[in-house]
Parts: sequence; structure tokens; C-alpha cells
Amino acid sequence: MEELWIRPMKVEDIDEVLKIERLCFSTPWSREAFRAEIEGNHCARYLVAELGGLVVGFGGMWIILDEAHITNIGVHPHYRGRGIGEAIMRGLIETASRLKVEGMTLEVRVSNVIAQNLYKKLGFVSVGVRKGYYSDNGEDALIMWRNKYTKV
Ligand SMILES: CC(C)(COP(=O)(O)OP(=O)(O)OC[C@H]1O[C@@H](n2cnc3c(N)ncnc32)[C@H](O)[C@@H]1OP(=O)(O)O)[C@@H](O)C(=O)NCCC(=O)NCCS
Repeated sequence: MEELWIRPMKVEDIDEVLKIERLCFSTPWSREAFRAEIEGNHCARYLVAELGGLVVGFGGMWIILDEAHITNIGVHPHYRGRGIGEAIMRGLIETASRLKVEGMTLEVRVSNVIAQNLYKKLGFVSVGVRKGYYSDNGEDALIMWRNKYTKV
């Protein structure tokens, strides 16, 4: 079994991350956006999942004061359903916990039941809806929240 390694994202990872990003999202982030996050945004924390030397997933968040806002998470379609998304999320939760974050939040498409299941499994609960949040199709976003006392 190849070992799964969750580690901070580096600029050299961006090529692989972009491939995954494009397979995951209808409005993918650009190379410049990822570079700016890693090199220029002191609030940002990004992780990658590496399996057998290959980047197979990533996720990130902004930490603003005592709150973490998950910005994105994606796993290469060939590697889904093997616990990698969960490992990335647990990595983000641990990072936030080390930084004394009180709560974590994220938005997810109301149709994205798979991601919602992942977040619920890790203690996120729905707290509201942002109407028409997604500009590509006008879909609503579910707002989810997790506090630091949640144990999973
Ligand atoms: C959401 C995503 C990151 C999950 O990654 P993954 O590595 O496949 O997920 P895992 O194997 O770690 O599964 C963790 C949990 O997610 C949920 N889940 C995963 N695949 C699922 C499926 N096909 N159906 C229902 N729930 C599912 C389950 O709760 C699962 O826990 P379980 O195995 O105990 O049932 C992945 O599907 C993905 O990259 N999707 C496209 C990008 C995206 O939607 N990102 C989220 C934007 S808000």
C-alpha cells in the first residue's frame, strides 16, 4: 500500500494542483491565483495529499482572526472514495486547531451531496443558505460551520 502524505502546498505543486482543480470545478482557479495564495497571502494555508510521490488532492483555507474559511478542496477523480478528501479535511482541521481557531466555515453547492457528506462526517453543520452564490449557474450555497469543540 502506498503511503498517503498530507503536507503544505509548495509552488512546485501548482502544475499538478491545476490539473486536479480543472477536473473538479467548472470555474477553476488560475495558476496566478494559487501562486498568490501560497506566496502572498499570509492568511492562507494550503495542503496537498501526496500518494506514491504523486499529488492527488489539495485543500486550503484562510484564517482570519479566530475563524477559518475553507476556500477549496479537490481530489483527482481517479483517487476518490479512498479517504483522501477526508485526510485533507482532517489536515485542515488540525492546522486550524494548532492556530487556536474557534470555528471553521465553508460554502458548498446545494447539489454537492458528496462534499456535504464529507463535511457532516467531520462535524460541520448547515447554518444557512446564500441565495444564487455561484455565478456560473446561479446555484445556492449551503453555509456550513464547525466549532473547535467538535470531536470526530
Ligand atoms: C468532495 C471530495 C473532495 C471528496 O473526496 P474523496 O477523497 O472522494 O472522499 P473520501 O473518500 O475521503 O470520503 C469521505 C466521506 O465523503 C463522503 N463521500 C465520499 N464519496 C461519496 C459518495 N460517492 N457518495 C456519498 N458520499 C460520499 C462520505 O461521507 C465519506 O465518508 P465514508 O467513506 O465514511 O462514507 C471529492 O469528491 C471531490 O474532489 N469532489 C469534487 C470537488 C468538490 O466538490 N469539492 C468540494 C467543493 S465545496
